[in-house]
Amino acid sequence: MKKLCLLSNKITKSIIPIFLIHIISCSSIDGEVSELVSSMTLEEKIGQMTQVDYRYLADKSDIKKYFLGSILSGGGSTPPTNQPSSWVDLYNGFQEEALKTRLKIPLIYGIDAVHGHNNVLGATMFPHNIGLGCMNDKALVQDIAAATAEEVKATGLDWTFAPCVAVAQDERWGRTYESYSEDSDIVTELGVASTIGFQGRTLNKNSVLACAKHFVGDGNTIFGTGTNWYKIDRGDVVLDEEELRSKYIKPFKESINMGVGSIMVSYNSWKGQKLHGHKYLINDVLKKELGFDGIVVSDWAGINELDKDYKTCIIQSINAGIDMNMVPGSLNPDDNSYDDFIRLAIESVKEGSIPMERIDDAVSRILRIKKKIGLFDSPIKKPKNTDVVGSKKHRELARKSVRKSLVLLKNENQILPLQKNNSKITLVGEHADNIGYQSGGWTIHWQGGSGDITPGTTILDAFKSAVSDSSNIRYSKDGGDLSNSDIIVAVIGEKPYSEGVGDRDSLHLSNEDIKLIEKVKRSKLPFVVILISGRPMIINEVLDESDAFLAAWLPGTEGLGISDVIFGDFDFTGKLSMTWPKSMKQIPINYGDSSYDPLFKFGFGLSYE
Ligand code: GLC
Repeated sequence: MKKLCLLSNKITKSIIPIFLIHIISCSSIDGEVSELVSSMTLEEKIGQMTQVDYRYLADKSDIKKYFLGSILSGGGSTPPTNQPSSWVDLYNGFQEEALKTRLKIPLIYGIDAVHGHNNVLGATMFPHNIGLGCMNDKALVQDIAAATAEEVKATGLDWTFAPCVAVAQDERWGRTYESYSEDSDIVTELGVASTIGFQGRTLNKNSVLACAKHFVGDGNTIFGTGTNWYKIDRGDVVLDEEELRSKYIKPFKESINMGVGSIMVSYNSWKGQKLHGHKYLINDVLKKELGFDGIVVSDWAGINELDKDYKTCIIQSINAGIDMNMVPGSLNPDDNSYDDFIRLAIESVKEGSIPMERIDDAVSRILRIKKKIGLFDSPIKKPKNTDVVGSKKHRELARKSVRKSLVLLKNENQILPLQKNNSKITLVGEHADNIGYQSGGWTIHWQGGSGDITPGTTILDAFKSAVSDSSNIRYSKDGGDLSNSDIIVAVIGEKPYSEGVGDRDSLHLSNEDIKLIEKVKRSKLPFVVILISGRPMIINEVLDESDAFLAAWLPGTEGLGISDVIFGDFDFTGKLSMTWPKSMKQIPINYGDSSYDPLFKFGFGLSYE
């Protein structure tokens, strides 16, 4: 097979069309992979199927000892000094261990680069997906993914667990902001664009492996059917198969057609059966019917919820079609770790509970992807320009996407755009001067953070730089001093959260924000509200009392995108990708519902024109 591969290289410039070269090179990869798999021991095979968060490695030599195939950094799993060069060193240190194994199979390193390379200090934090859904510009989404991929590559990493192609239906879900839209077509189009941005049109040595997630139905579970505080995230989807396919499997189908290299399984269930053990949906639908030939990876310890007995979890999940287990490890010695997974998986194969063909299929998929993205050719990384991380060019791209993600819900008496000259503007609210709040979850830390957690431009700083005389921009965080103001801008909303931690019974504004608005109202000054949130919230009273109201979602580090529009340099173009409810009683509410009477309909958005 090697000869064939060489032949294809030699005739690269000849008359044979590129697509045929591609076919030849794929078949040569298949040949190399099957040759490699046939030479592997069972221990080496199971090792390839094991993915561990680097924080939970007992020692990095365990990579060699257990033939580990993958390392990940979960949210906040950063090197001691969180800068690009440290990430490269961290990566290479682990890769060197993998190359000490008998077969020198390189590991693949995954991370959640879901709104930029968001674990990395100084990276460009783009708007979260809900804002990109309101922007609804597939070319820009592709550019954002490509820029993110550049920053991921600059830190040496290979794989991002993005795009999330959930079609969120219940705004109470803590991951609503990770979904582009309640509309499956928008999710599909932007998810595919994102995959192209990360991977390119075909997987190649410059690709960052994308991961369409979470398969399938997350964001549309029945409230309260989840486990303990994860009321929705771990819940049950009760749709019939036709709707599951047409609305929720569709983004995955199109991502597969676009060549997405990995798919992550979801924590939720379908009709009472956990997705991590769902052989019909993973093996029969995703792999056989839709032809997915990449890696099916579990979510974080996702297999553990299948049964009380860990070995049973392993057998069910691998036989269902999961190829790589995100183990990922734990500081709790009672929790199952990678050595348990490996031992029990080997036992299960030896006793015949997991067929060797299934193991060989899983390992072949993993190795094929590693070869396609060039890991065997250049496993040790020497990135050329780490200064691409948080570069001016990327921040400008993020600023543009912030502008286009904003949705204007109200603008009475044309109070907007604000005047740049001679207008005394006082901003109030903690969210006005807080990079952590405006970036949301999955920023430096898993749950995000507060304050200057990474370099960026707060809304307050953006306002100051937008006007001719910055002394006209004042800040009174608690609204205690509104004197000598012509207009107030109240920046309110949600504090950061991720995943099920953000599952909520209520989406009402906080008492803190309500009190702040009451203070502003008592001043009798005109006021504008900027809502920083991962989803629509219940805003009726505040909306009525305000003169203007805009949804900024979770814009990320580039607050200038907000001042660009508020001061009229650019117009509002964003349209709601999620229906805006009037009350909690209406939720979940989505266009197409039989009774549909929201505060703002799907697709709503005002502009200055
Ligand atoms: C989390 C999330 C998933 C993420 C993974 C790795 O639990 O569900 O979206 O990619 O773990 O951080």
